[in-house]
Amino acid sequence: MSTVQIRDARKFYGAHPVLHGVDIDIADGEFVILVGPSGCGKSTLLRMVAGLESITGGTISIDGRVVNGLEPKDRDIAMVFQNYALYPQMTVAQNMGFALELAGTAKDEIKRKVDYAAGILGLEPLLQRKPAQLSGGQRQRVAMGRAIVRDPKVFLFDEPLSNLDAKLRVKMRAEIKALHQRLKTTIVYVTHDQIEAMTMADKIVVMQGGQIEQIGTPLDLYDHPKNMFVAGFLGSPAMNFLEGVVVGHEDSACLDLGDAGRVPLAGRVRQAAGKRVIVGIRPEAIAIADTGGIPAEVLVVEPTGSETHLAVRLGGQEIVVVLRSRVSLAAGERVCLSLETASFHVFDSDTGERLQDG
Ligand SMILES: Nc1ncnc2c1ncn2[C@@H]1O[C@H](COP(=O)(O)OP(=O)(O)OP(=O)(O)O)[C@@H](O)[C@H]1O
Ligand SMILES: [Mg+2]
Repeated sequence: MSTVQIRDARKFYGAHPVLHGVDIDIADGEFVILVGPSGCGKSTLLRMVAGLESITGGTISIDGRVVNGLEPKDRDIAMVFQNYALYPQMTVAQNMGFALELAGTAKDEIKRKVDYAAGILGLEPLLQRKPAQLSGGQRQRVAMGRAIVRDPKVFLFDEPLSNLDAKLRVKMRAEIKALHQRLKTTIVYVTHDQIEAMTMADKIVVMQGGQIEQIGTPLDLYDHPKNMFVAGFLGSPAMNFLEGVVVGHEDSACLDLGDAGRVPLAGRVRQAAGKRVIVGIRPEAIAIADTGGIPAEVLVVEPTGSETHLAVRLGGQEIVVVLRSRVSLAAGERVCLSLETASFHVFDSDTGERLQDG
């Protein structure tokens, strides 16, 4: 069993507040990813769990035991950093076994554990190399191996893939996920890459400005974002936001987009007519209409191979459309768009909070 419970965790650096009371429950074996913009406090929180940073207020418990006062070495946690922090003069095997050596583990036991981790990570042929003789991805694997040999209760990862090129990141992403499925150890993983979060996490914690915006499964957050921040943070290209005024009531309600006309909001919103709202529409929930639709002007056409991304102007507002097909369109052309109204997200234009139940 290795659960992590974070209760009202607060952090001040001097007089400067960085975390404003954070609550997270992490179940045994769960893969939890903290995401959020730069400076929102992800690393600080992770380092507080590791014991590398003091806790100004609240409690952090591992397996039900409050660890606030415990030294990092007594928390049974292994952390993998962005820069790997390998010892350059040591071989891969020595790097992986070093923590065990310091702990006074017997030599044959160290060898057994290093061989086990090397087997899992495909590092056997590289055990006698020095870090300088390895690729970025291999170094990353050694850093993970060093964590695995300690057989910790919890793994903490702080942006472990951010130094790798795009292709290697995708590969390592899959490797870390496979590693988790194999070891079933609790993982808390920090990234600001929302695709990493969507693809790897059991549960995502979206943070902003030292606070939690929302916690949920990746698809739950994608389909039911609680506010415009979460809606705009997850998804690439990002969700479009159109501003308009609600006209009519209940089943006859429409969103008046001004010049661009009206789109039906039937059943999507319980708001009085006249209210200004923001409707969020994912780029993939928009298509080119065969008949009818809302007129728009094409601004940019970006073929990615498998998809075509269009930037279009609709009324006075600019949005992005993702088409799963190839189209012969050019900037300046006029198109008509159909919007999948069933997948609209409706937000309060003052608070940014979601105005729907589901
Ligand atoms: N040792 C420190 N002393 C004072 N302020 C700090 C210290 N470490 C971090 N901060 C501040 O605390 C805030 C949170 O920093 P933190 O490193 O946790 O952000 P982050 O979410 O990990 O960002 P990034 O995505 O850029 O890594 C930032 O405003 C940062 O400037
Ligand atoms: Mg950080």
